Amino acid sequence: MNVNQSSVTSGGNFSDEIILAIETSCDETSAAVIRGGKHILSNVVSSQIEIHERFGGVVPEIASRKHVESITLIIEQAVKEAGVGLRDLSAIAVTEGPGLVGALLVGIVAAKSLAMALGIPLIGTHHIAGHIYANELVQDIVYPSLALVVSGGHTELVLLEREGAFRILGRTRDDAVGEAYDKVARALKLPYPGGPHIDRLASESQEEIVLPRAWLEADSYDFSFSGLKSAVLAAINQHRMKGLELNEGALARGFQQSVIEVLVSKALRAAKQSGARQLLLCGGVAANRGLRAALTESCSAAGIPLLIPPNSLCTDNAAMIGAAAFLKLKRGQFSGLDLKGDPGLSLEKWSVNS
Ligand code: KG4
Ligand code: ZN
Repeated sequence: MNVNQSSVTSGGNFSDEIILAIETSCDETSAAVIRGGKHILSNVVSSQIEIHERFGGVVPEIASRKHVESITLIIEQAVKEAGVGLRDLSAIAVTEGPGLVGALLVGIVAAKSLAMALGIPLIGTHHIAGHIYANELVQDIVYPSLALVVSGGHTELVLLEREGAFRILGRTRDDAVGEAYDKVARALKLPYPGGPHIDRLASESQEEIVLPRAWLEADSYDFSFSGLKSAVLAAINQHRMKGLELNEGALARGFQQSVIEVLVSKALRAAKQSGARQLLLCGGVAANRGLRAALTESCSAAGIPLLIPPNSLCTDNAAMIGAAAFLKLKRGQFSGLDLKGDPGLSLEKWSVNS
């Protein structure tokens, strides 16, 4: 069922269309207002990190409850900050997956209610399409483009042959890169989320404990981080059992160097092989200083332009969901009011119909 498609009255020019986007897939409650798919009028993010920190990771039940508590206020704030009225909105976008199903549902129910009350279309949006299209909020994407998606739940190389068409060239076979960072940090008794702490330790250390690289088969674009994580845990245990002092900086640096070398090498090979005109880095781990520096250097040597959004658009936020939803708004591809949260939503299937 399509909701009131006729209410998008652009006549082919969509630059004035305003989307209210909602993101509640994990531990950030966020709402944003985006004009013309590129201009951020507001992007309000309420993080639950402090609540989950004491448990060492996201507790799904608590995440859902906190989304319920804050969603209305966050939406109201986003609309107010954008300086628009609800009647100015062209569509409501919401993350439909992947993510925690109970958390997704909170955003979806809010989005459906608004779309129905205002009589405007609903656009179910893929979370990873959002991370990728966060780049469009900064600079125009040119095609073909290759995205390296590195977040707490995903590690993927995605080829975009044209706008809104996603093809996954490689993905992690076990842990996502952010997940590996968080588990290693936890073993070192660092606070959640651990990525930024490992990044800091690694960049401050002059020494490095060299750890293995998981290249997998020679032609594979897949990743694997569980072996590396186990190598780190084994090193920590050996030191503890022998009563030796562990050089945590050297271990963090060894871990980070192994991750970066594999990510950068596979991304560059895929970009060259697919004739990509740009490399897009996105997801929470894109905030990693070591990864940014290594990719910048390799892309510049290979003559491939690199796009990295600012940190505020790399971690979960609703502005990126609005940017991805715009692809569907332009094509009149809307969701029905029977939209469900889908924890395993396929990125390739979410591609736009050309
Ligand atoms: O994209 P994101 O905000 O949420 C997901 O969709 O998963 O990513 C969160 C992940 C966490 O695992 C966090 O530890 C990691 O991004 N992260 C980092 C850094 N900043 C955040 N990992 C490595 N280095 C960083 N500087
Ligand atoms: Zn994310």
